[in-house]
Order: sequence, then C-alpha cells, then structure tokens
Amino acid sequence: MDFENIYIEEENNLATITINRPKKLNALNKRTIDELHVAFKELDEDNETKVIIITGSGEKAFVAGADISEFSDYSVKEGRQLAAAGQRKLFDFVENLSTPVIAAINGFALGGGLELAMACHFRVASSNARMGLPEVSLGVIPGYGGTQRLPQLVGKGRAMEMIMTAGMVDSDKAFGYGLVNHVVSSEELLPFCKKIAGRISNNSTVAIKHAIKAINAGFKYDADGYSVEIDAFGTCFGTDDFKEGTSAFLEKRKADFPGS
Ligand code: COA
Repeated sequence: MDFENIYIEEENNLATITINRPKKLNALNKRTIDELHVAFKELDEDNETKVIIITGSGEKAFVAGADISEFSDYSVKEGRQLAAAGQRKLFDFVENLSTPVIAAINGFALGGGLELAMACHFRVASSNARMGLPEVSLGVIPGYGGTQRLPQLVGKGRAMEMIMTAGMVDSDKAFGYGLVNHVVSSEELLPFCKKIAGRISNNSTVAIKHAIKAINAGFKYDADGYSVEIDAFGTCFGTDDFKEGTSAFLEKRKADFPGS
C-alpha cells in the first residue's frame, strides 16, 4: 500500500509513524485509519522492529479527532459501522499489538486522537499538548473506545467530567490524572520517547508480548487476567529468550535475546 497520509522512519529496531495531514490537524479520515492498520500490521510482523512510536506532523496537533467532514451525514447504521470498523482496524488492534507502542503527543489530542493515544501502550506528552474528548459538543459520544479507556486510565469521575464538559486538559493536568506518563518540551518529545524505546528494546520481545497480553486481559470483562498471567508466565519458560536471559544473569553478562 502506498501511504499518502502517514510516513514511517526506522532506525535501530525502532519505527516512528507520523500522521501527516497537518492542514487538517492530522484528523483521522478513513484512508488514514486504513493506512495506520497496514503500517502497524507490517511493523508488528517485522522482527527487526522492537518498539513503535506514533506522533503527528507539525507543531500544533497529534490528531484533532476523527475527520468530522466524513461522517456528518451518516445514518444510524453507518455510525455504528464507523465505530465498529475503526475499533477493529485501529484502536483494539493497537492495544493488542505484540510490539510496544508509545504515543508521543505533540499538540492537540482530541476525540479520536486522544482515543488513539489511549489505545497505545503508554503516552508521553509535550508541554504544549491539550487533550480531550469533545464529542458531546458535536451531539455524539466517543466511539473509538474513549468511554472505556478514559475511565480505565483516569478514573470514572474524572472521565465523566471530561466527557460531559467536552473540555480539554493541559499536559500537567493529564500527568496528574495518570493519562500521560511524562511531560517534556516539544524539542525533547521524540528524543525522550526514543530513549525509553531503547530501554525497552534491550529486553525480551517475547516476554514483553506476553506481558502486554496479560496486562490487557485484566481490563477485559470476559477474561481472567490472573489465569492469563499464569499461562503466559509458564509459556515463557519454553522460550529461547528465557534460556538466554537466565543464563546471561548467572554468567554475569548482558543478555542477547534471540527473540523467540
Ligand atoms: N475533522 C476535520 N477537520 C478538522 C478537524 C476534525 N476533527 N479538526 C480540525 N480540522 C480542520 C479544520 O476544519 C481546519 O480546516 P480548514 O482550514 O480547511 O478550514 C483545519 O483543520 C485547521 O483547524 P482550525 O479549526 O482552523 O484550527 P484552530 O487552531 O482554530 O482550532 C481546534 C484547533 C483543534 C480547537 C479545532 O480545530 C477543533 O475544535 N477541531 C475539532 C476537534 C473535535 O471536535 N474533535 C472530535 C471529533 S469527533
């Protein structure tokens, strides 16, 4: 697939996906969602890629939401399909990806933009970032998982207030809420995320994959996170990464994980 609305840069086992529609504040139209699905799938299947960072182009926005111009005349059925397809192709897909995904929030992260950042495994914001779910100001609700993931991250009361007021929080407030893990300057945002990515990529990709699965299971109504953890823990014992990790520790050397 030729990408029109995103581009990917790869260096040292790290891939950075940039959403590139700056004139529309990187709003997520259907094509962009399709391109992101393909990009995440291909990078996840590529053994060289150990961490993915996602950010927005320009200084103003990470993503200012779903593209309002695309759905303003949708019917009830089309509205349902829009949410279902988006959740399947992008938001749930990213959350359940085996490769760690960091959101580098470089400006406005609104509506579908904040929902995308929340589907990532964790978030870092620049000090000028502003985040919110303004959908009720448009007569609709968050449809890409926002009503579920925001309360998971910030608590029910804060999520209720943010969604009902359609208001924005700045990065310091988002940090206080636990919505973002770190706040850094705009210049530092990508270098800082790359530094964390470097630390992640020293570890076993197989073990990380199982950790993501077990953590996510705890947030699913139809899964028992503790059982998933027990199963994943046991599975790790059969991997080459486990043999290498434990041998390296006992031999007092740095592990060189084969990734299997
Ligand atoms: N969908 C479609 N287009 C969008 C968009 C969105 N979610 N967000 C911004 N844009 C477009 C604007 O229409 C404008 O396009 P134009 O130049 O062709 O008119 C361009 O991006 C720049 O946005 P603009 O509103 O002029 O910038 P601003 O600095 O005045 O305001 C925001 C920035 C983020 C406050 C404002 O763009 C906004 O409220 N966007 C919508 C946020 C939203 O409700 N998202 C949830 C969608 S469900």
